Amino acid sequence: MTVHTPIQSANRRIPGWAMGFTLAVVVAGGAYFGTNLSGHNPPIGGPPPSAGPPDAHMVIAKAGCMACHGPDLTGQVGPNLHHVKDGPTSANLKQLGTDHPDDWANIWIAGTDPAVSDPAMRMGMPAFAAPPYKLTPEEIASVVAYLKTLP
Ligand code: HEC
Repeated sequence: MTVHTPIQSANRRIPGWAMGFTLAVVVAGGAYFGTNLSGHNPPIGGPPPSAGPPDAHMVIAKAGCMACHGPDLTGQVGPNLHHVKDGPTSANLKQLGTDHPDDWANIWIAGTDPAVSDPAMRMGMPAFAAPPYKLTPEEIASVVAYLKTLP
């Protein structure tokens, strides 16, 4: 006859710390999802609800203007951008500056207008309103406003 040893269950209880940990995870997770579901947090990936005007420095960094115009935008492959407030310095852009004294820089940076889309004229500068950059008119306007403040 086989004698079965009784199962030792005395020390198989879930330890107190594990119960506490589980409870903490459940409470934290519930709080996280609860606040999300009730709309207190912005949807993941979406813009914050109270987004202000685009930040010019962020747009310039995102678009990589410094790669060509220099780390302080005083010129490298592309011209010095500290003179944007006085009109274009590039000979190719003189006519554009005459035709559009207020927004020539916006048109140029966007680059999609037929007047500025010729590759020979752009000399490698991307059309930033087009993919892959797709800067919005507001983003371009914030960059131009910033460039006009440069001494
Ligand atoms: C791949 C290099 C390159 C990048 C990146 C680039 N540019 Fe340019 N940019 C140029 C070149 C080259 C010219 C001169 C074009 C010409 O003379 O026809 C120019 C000209 C300009 C001008 C006209 C300057 C003048 O006075 O004539 C402005 C304004 C300007 N760029 C702004 C920007 C801004 C803002 C960005 C980023 C959003 C940017 N560029 C990114 C190469 C670049």
